[in-house]
Amino acid sequence: MLKPLPGFRDFYPEQQSILNHLFGIWKQTAHRFGFCEYNAPVLEPLELFTQKSGEEIVSQLFTFEDQGGRPVALRPEMTPLLGRMVGSQANSLRRPIKWFNIGEHFRYEKPQKGRTRSFYQFNADILGESGTGADAELIALCISTLTATGLSEREFCIRLSDRSLWIEYLASFGIDSAVAPKLLSIIDKRARLKPEALFAQVQPFLKDQTEAFLAQVDVLTKIRSLQDLENFFVKNSDEKLNDTLSHRLDDWRQLMGDLESMALGAFIRIDLEIVRGLAYYTGFVFEAFAIDGTGRALAGGGRYDHLLSKLGYPGLPACGFAIGDVTLTLLLAEKNRLPRYIQAADVYMIASGKEERRAALGDSALLRQAGFSVEYPLKPVGFGKQFKLAGQSNARFALIYGTDELALQKVKLRNFSSGEECLLSRDRLPEMFQSVLES
Ligand code: HAM
Repeated sequence: MLKPLPGFRDFYPEQQSILNHLFGIWKQTAHRFGFCEYNAPVLEPLELFTQKSGEEIVSQLFTFEDQGGRPVALRPEMTPLLGRMVGSQANSLRRPIKWFNIGEHFRYEKPQKGRTRSFYQFNADILGESGTGADAELIALCISTLTATGLSEREFCIRLSDRSLWIEYLASFGIDSAVAPKLLSIIDKRARLKPEALFAQVQPFLKDQTEAFLAQVDVLTKIRSLQDLENFFVKNSDEKLNDTLSHRLDDWRQLMGDLESMALGAFIRIDLEIVRGLAYYTGFVFEAFAIDGTGRALAGGGRYDHLLSKLGYPGLPACGFAIGDVTLTLLLAEKNRLPRYIQAADVYMIASGKEERRAALGDSALLRQAGFSVEYPLKPVGFGKQFKLAGQSNARFALIYGTDELALQKVKLRNFSSGEECLLSRDRLPEMFQSVLES
């Protein structure tokens, strides 16, 4: 039997309806926050990702040479594409640029619970604004998108961290900012590594400070309040914060203040354990997680102020995030928050004979034009069989075309759930049907 490739999914109508449910929520929330939708190709020149996404993603690329001999890759993420699109038209775009996309992405990962090789993401990004207001807006959008699915602060949280604090902290151990992303990608995998393996990977960077460094990392990643974060850095800076740290903590206060003002404080958990696997992040970073789940992130993102200038478009600070469909659907199914799948027309047409069927087909066209969903048997079948088909169709109503009613230019409407019946005039059928729906 032919099956999809490992990690790829067929979407039967029921699964597609779940996806559409998520897409609807993602679009609606993005519009409420004033984001504009954009789109881009799924196949890109390989170098867009090898240069901009970082080692981990590059090792997961679906890549091949096209017939023209070009090295190409299926997009594993949206951010470098967005950077290219915005960068090349930056001068003509009104700032801040607030854009969103819903699309398919591809990563050659080991398929497992919450991880597939093809998945959908909702990406939202703000470009051209360096202040923490943009970070707050995106975190708020991420939270609103998740609460719109019915999830609450008891079910998910945002783990908020800061790559720039990490880089500043690593500098205090003599680690250069150019080397820092490599060390941060090891720290990103910290929870999944055995202590000896972690030590062995960190040692080339920290040499004989490795033990002390890892002990401090343990303390730093357990911090949950702004005050403790400040105390930690005061202690590590010999009782006095340097200007960079002091400004950074002001940014933290500003960001947390904005989120509190939007009544979102309950969702936020300070957690420096989050450093993000992608190489381009420079400032605040965050991930959304189910509270009682051991599962993978529902969403992730952060600030990437240097990516656009690396693509050749300087002067465009940026931040953004992406929510994936796979982990979110698993969580919503677990919490019973997925809508029940019902494929049902508003009306099923039943006709007693040839003449009546012709009248029913004519009326079905008018009802469909008016926006109602209408079904009928595609080939003429017996009257009794049509009632059976109507019942199986889950339609809310039947319109029954009998000889006597048709002679009076009327049609009988049956409500399947109440069993009630009434006669409707055919000359104003869509309006009459609408008034029954509203009554
Ligand atoms: P990411 O953390 O790599 O970030 O992915 C974001 C979300 O996409 C994850 O939290 C997860 O829900 C979903 N996801 C990623 N990989 C897979 C997979 N193999 N299977 C299923 N779901 C997956 C980014 O992609 C960044 N480009 C987000 C961003 C936008 N940063 C700034 N702007």
